[in-house]
Amino acid sequence: MSAYPEHLDVAAIRADFPALARTVRNDNPLVYLDSGATSQKPVQVLDAEREFYERHNGAAHRGTHLLGEEATDVYEGARAKVAAFLGAGPGEVVFTKNATEAINLVAYALSNDRSGSFRVGPGDEILITEMEHHANLVPWQQLCERTGATLRWLDVTPEGRLDLDHLDSMITGRTRIVAVTHQSNVTGTIPPVAEIARAAHEKGALVLADAAQSVPHQPVDVAALGVDFLAFSAHKMLGPYGIGVLFGRASLLEAMPPFLTGGSMIEVVRMEGSTFLPPPQRFEPGVPAVAEAAGLAAAVDYLSRLGMGHVAAHEESLTAHALDALREIDGLRILGPDTTKDRGGAVAFEVEGVHPHDVGQVLDELGIAVRTGHHCAWPLHRALGVQASTRATFYVYNTHGEVDALADGIRYAQRFFKAG
Ligand SMILES: Cc1ncc(COP(=O)(O)O)c(C=O)c1O
Repeated sequence: MSAYPEHLDVAAIRADFPALARTVRNDNPLVYLDSGATSQKPVQVLDAEREFYERHNGAAHRGTHLLGEEATDVYEGARAKVAAFLGAGPGEVVFTKNATEAINLVAYALSNDRSGSFRVGPGDEILITEMEHHANLVPWQQLCERTGATLRWLDVTPEGRLDLDHLDSMITGRTRIVAVTHQSNVTGTIPPVAEIARAAHEKGALVLADAAQSVPHQPVDVAALGVDFLAFSAHKMLGPYGIGVLFGRASLLEAMPPFLTGGSMIEVVRMEGSTFLPPPQRFEPGVPAVAEAAGLAAAVDYLSRLGMGHVAAHEESLTAHALDALREIDGLRILGPDTTKDRGGAVAFEVEGVHPHDVGQVLDELGIAVRTGHHCAWPLHRALGVQASTRATFYVYNTHGEVDALADGIRYAQRFFKAG
């Protein structure tokens, strides 16, 4: 059972999300079970962006006029809010485009460092897991290609957990960074990141957590997790597209070379060369996404008002219901753990005799939005012995009735395709 009471007033929450009032195919009410891909946005977030454009639109960190000053306040206010949400210092929050860019920032900083303490080269190792989203896999493959370092990974068990039996031997004195998901976007598995971080630090390796699926859904405190870097996207946590976050420990950001370069991140520019600002500005070239930062701040306020413990408890109860309901369906196999222990609200499954795309299409005809395919986690699907799956993901606005609609919809798909 969750440590938190399930305390969300879901009816009141739903009233904040205009998209949820829509009808979709065949005049069916929308049952949105794809928040793992992107969440819906409440009016509070939409209003924050609109208010910025209507009243304060100016370029942050430039110019001396009032609107520029207000834009800077909005942008830096959002940074402070995100930092407090994570238990970090404001200087430790870098705004990026999304989680993918945040992870690339770290990977490129490592290969851009030609002389300093981050230098990666032949003989060095990068440790990831077989459970990763491609966003936390391909950048590390590319880093290894650029530097001659070796990519290693922890396997997953048939149940979809991380196989930690060999953790101690997989992290060696040559491991430069361990990059691990904090919640699988396919199986919902929550690996023991704090334990992995301790083991990595004992060997002198850095640790990055891909928190794209955890920060939106559970309380996350970077100090308690003990990670050096943590990445996530606003659009999966009720916020807008186009802005993401890299948390980095202050001393590390201070020592890291830039990733993307240009205006706004420089100290002095001469034709012969340039020097760079301290973090976080060093990592934020170009005119910043201020309206998006305003939207993200409103999303953080919204989630904080609900209480992340309550958010997690609500999703745990939906996940438990979904696991129970789907287990009852003949010919359906749930990928990943079949209890809610150390597991979040992503439930992927295969239906014997029906291709995942067909399951998705039939559900769509009923107004139920799910994701189908490999969900940008191809190696994980291979490890679990499937090509693709159908995935339902839950959030603050989902109801138990919607979980029942999903189960009924899957049965209908089985009848339609004469399977099961
Ligand atoms: C676990 C995980 N990591 C990273 C990402 C990448 O997020 P984005 O596409 O917003 O950069 C996703 C998106 O689905 C994800 O689920």
